Amino acid sequence: MSITPSPLLPFKARAGLVITSQNAEIRCEMNFDFDTVVSRRSTGCIKYDRKPDLDPFWVADMDFPSTPPILEALHRRVDHGIFGYAQPHTGLNEAVIDYLKNRRGATVPLEQIIHLGGLVPALSLAIRAFCQPGEAVMTCTPVYPPFIGTHHDGKAQLIAVDHIMVDGRWSFDWEALESAVTPETKVFLLCNPQNPLGRVFFCQ
Ligand SMILES: Cc1ncc(COP(=O)(O)O)c(C=O)c1O
Repeated sequence: MSITPSPLLPFKARAGLVITSQNAEIRCEMNFDFDTVVSRRSTGCIKYDRKPDLDPFWVADMDFPSTPPILEALHRRVDHGIFGYAQPHTGLNEAVIDYLKNRRGATVPLEQIIHLGGLVPALSLAIRAFCQPGEAVMTCTPVYPPFIGTHHDGKAQLIAVDHIMVDGRWSFDWEALESAVTPETKVFLLCNPQNPLGRVFFCQ
């Protein structure tokens, strides 16, 4: 897979990417300014306001504004003025189903999609769905902390195996994984893209 900046847009607005994978070339271009630094201090964000005297390298939170289509949709929603109980609209479900099909090759029926508030409740739900108390969850470390904490929700055991460096890149320790796995291991939590190692894993 290769990612090259699109030459079609000026530097200030260069958000165009041409992504080439084995199966498809995806062109996605829009006007977006990645260069202007927007101050987030004193906006109530944990990244800058929790420890204002430190540079915030500890959290994976973006410093770019959301893209114009997202801002426009939110403005439309706010202008409506009433914020009662919401339900996922058809377009959202269609977008999720199309993404999983086109980008992940997975055909997922609508009734198998459950909307949750974030990744952490999803980890907890998956563990409680697929692990009985006493069974095991496996993951690789170091990793975003909820991957090594949510097994408590299902009273499951945690098996953690360290990532290793292979030819200058972080990888899996396949031998250690094989010797650590047990018949009671029902769930493997894969963090991909990997935080904090900064790697994206592909099937190969
Ligand atoms: C690997 C990883 N997944 C998920 C999240 C956060 O996910 P969500 O925004 O769904 O809570 C983080 C936040 O740092 C993360 O590092």
